[in-house]
Formats: sequence, structure tokens, C-alpha cells
Amino acid sequence: VSLKKYNTFGIDAKAKRFVAVHSTDELREVLQRHADQPKFILGGGSNMLLTQDVDALVIHVDLKGKKVVEEDDDFATVEAKAGENWHGFVLWTIDQNFGGLENMSLIPGNVGTTPIQNIGAYGTEIKDTFTSCDAIEIATGNLRTFDLAECRFGYRESVFKQELKNRYIITAVRFKLTKRNHKINTAYGDIQSELAKNNIDAPGLRDVSNAVIAIRQSKLPDPKELGNSGSFFKNPIISKKAFEKVQAQFPDIKSYPVSDTEVKVPAGWLIEQAGFKGKRFGDAGVHKNQALVLVNYGNATGQEILAVSKDIQRTILEKFGIAIEAEVNVI
Ligand code: EPU
Repeated sequence: VSLKKYNTFGIDAKAKRFVAVHSTDELREVLQRHADQPKFILGGGSNMLLTQDVDALVIHVDLKGKKVVEEDDDFATVEAKAGENWHGFVLWTIDQNFGGLENMSLIPGNVGTTPIQNIGAYGTEIKDTFTSCDAIEIATGNLRTFDLAECRFGYRESVFKQELKNRYIITAVRFKLTKRNHKINTAYGDIQSELAKNNIDAPGLRDVSNAVIAIRQSKLPDPKELGNSGSFFKNPIISKKAFEKVQAQFPDIKSYPVSDTEVKVPAGWLIEQAGFKGKRFGDAGVHKNQALVLVNYGNATGQEILAVSKDIQRTILEKFGIAIEAEVNVI
């Protein structure tokens, strides 16, 4: 089975065996039936680079459903199954005037993947509204509920990328959203300029969502048109000392505060300065509007994209002395 339409990079890797599951019972049954086989879990395929064929049973998690599970005058706790499209879910919450996810509009992928790397954009991360998720342990088929603390979220990080990597399959995720007194977050400069452009001075949830959609559409390629996985790299976090050293040589370098001793540097800036923005190497390349995004112009292999990413990492390390790390899962 070709996995081309199951990964947003559009890489034509093959799976030896492939099964889609539509319920937790079906998932448990598949896990039990193939207990002795290596397994590979596939959700929306929006955060992975396949660099080879997958010699395992690919389990495509296709659980659907979204509902309100608890509600009072101020808050609604909503739940979505892992196979729900993230953006569709965000729009569904906005339709009901539930606030908290609007800044994360139009992020590609499915709900079940969002806790793995604590997705975020424009000043919000899922950890800000997340309450819990359900996950099935691959080895036992047991269902476990993880609360916020147990997920140990950090910047594009969670327990599911660390100690529990490849051990659980997330089946449902819950968020506690506001029904009134929404915390509208327009701190991000791009959102402010987008709202100003449309003469909106008291934005609601829908206005923020629309602004984010417009910004993303202007900078980020649509995976349906141009294969990509969003930001390929994380923004590196370095010590203030190290930053000042680089700044002495490159006074224009940008940074965001992280703690008293550390700052985050936009990798997109580093990549652009290193001359990679808009560059194309065969069918692999660096997006012209956002250097942090690697793209597949059609028939690039995962190896070709990986080679470009390594070239970028090496060049950034040589030029700035900064190591940048992939955000996507390289397989
Ligand atoms: N920049 C450049 N050149 C570029 C791209 C960016 O100089 O080609 C500079 C910009 O001038 C700006 C800074 O880098 O000063 C930040 O750029 P931007 O606002 O586009 O955000 P980012 O840091 O590049 C992060 C997330 C995105 C998220 C945006 C908005 C990571 C790895 N990426 O990108 O998330 O949408 O902020 O919040 O943290 C994703 O994770 O897949 C993703 C798209």
C-alpha cells in the first residue's frame, strides 16, 4: 500500500501491511491479533517524514466523533476522537462560541496527534486548554487517561515524544473552553495587522480565527497543493550568553524571551540568512515565504528532503554555531 495520501509531505513510501481502525474495540482487536508484529501508528500524517518503506503493520487511526462532555454557564469541556480533522474541530468549537482554540485554526493534521507535540501557533498552545486525553497502550490494549500534568507538555514536547514514545495510541482528546469572557489573544503582531487591515477593533473568536487563516494562507503552503509538514525544525532555545555572542556578529538576529537565562531564536530567520529560502534541489526545497518549511514539489523522496534538512543544519551550525533540531518525526 502506498502511504502517499496518508502523509502531508506526499512521500510515496510503501507499507507492508495497512489497516484502518474506526473504533477503540477495533483497535484493541487489531493490536491483539498482531501482538507479535512491529506496528506503526499513523494519524493525520502531518508531522512525519517517511525516508523508507515501512516494514511494519501500519495502523491508521480513523476514530471519529466530537461532543460536549460537560458544561456550565462559563465553560464547556469538549471531546474529539483522534481521527477528527483538527481544523474542522476548531471550526466546530467556534460555531458554538466556545473559545480557546481559535489561534490554532488551520493547523494541518488530526486531533489525536496534537498532544504528542503540544501543537501551537500565534501565542497559544493546546496545553493552555487541554484537560485530558485517552490512550491505548500498544503492548496491553489497556485504556489510560492522561491528565494535563501527566502529559508533561513543553514547547513542541510531551511525554509521548519522550519516555512513552511509541507506547500509546491516543484515541480522544478533551479541552476546557470558555463560553463567555473569552480570552482573546491578539498579542502576535501578524494578528494585529491582519485585524487592522479589516478595521476590526473588538475581535471575537471568529475574527481571530479568520485572521489566523489569512496569515497561514499567505505564508504556509497548503499540503494539498505542495507537500509539506509545517515547520520542519523547532526554533532553537539557546543561552543568553550564546545569543549575545552571535548577536555581536549578526546584529539583526531576532529572539524571544524564554527564561532569565535562555532565549528562543527563529530558525526561519537563520535559514533565510544562510541563503536557503526559496531554494530548490530537484523536487525537494525550502518554501519561498517561510524558510522553516521544507516542501515536496512532486516526487521528492524522503531521503532527498532529509538530505536538504541535513545540509541546512550543517550550514546553520557552521555559520551561527547554533544547532537546530527537526520538529517533524523522521522515520
Ligand atoms: N523569519 C524569517 N524568515 C523566514 C521565516 C521567519 O526571517 O523565512 C522570521 C520572521 O521575520 C519572524 C520570525 O522569524 O521574525 C518568526 O516567524 P513566524 O512568525 O513565521 O513564526 P516561526 O517562529 O517561524 C512558529 C511556529 C509555527 C507557528 C508560528 C506562529 C515553530 C517551530 N513554528 O514559526 O508553527 O505557526 O510560529 O505562531 O515553533 C509548525 O509548528 O508546524 C508551525 C507552522
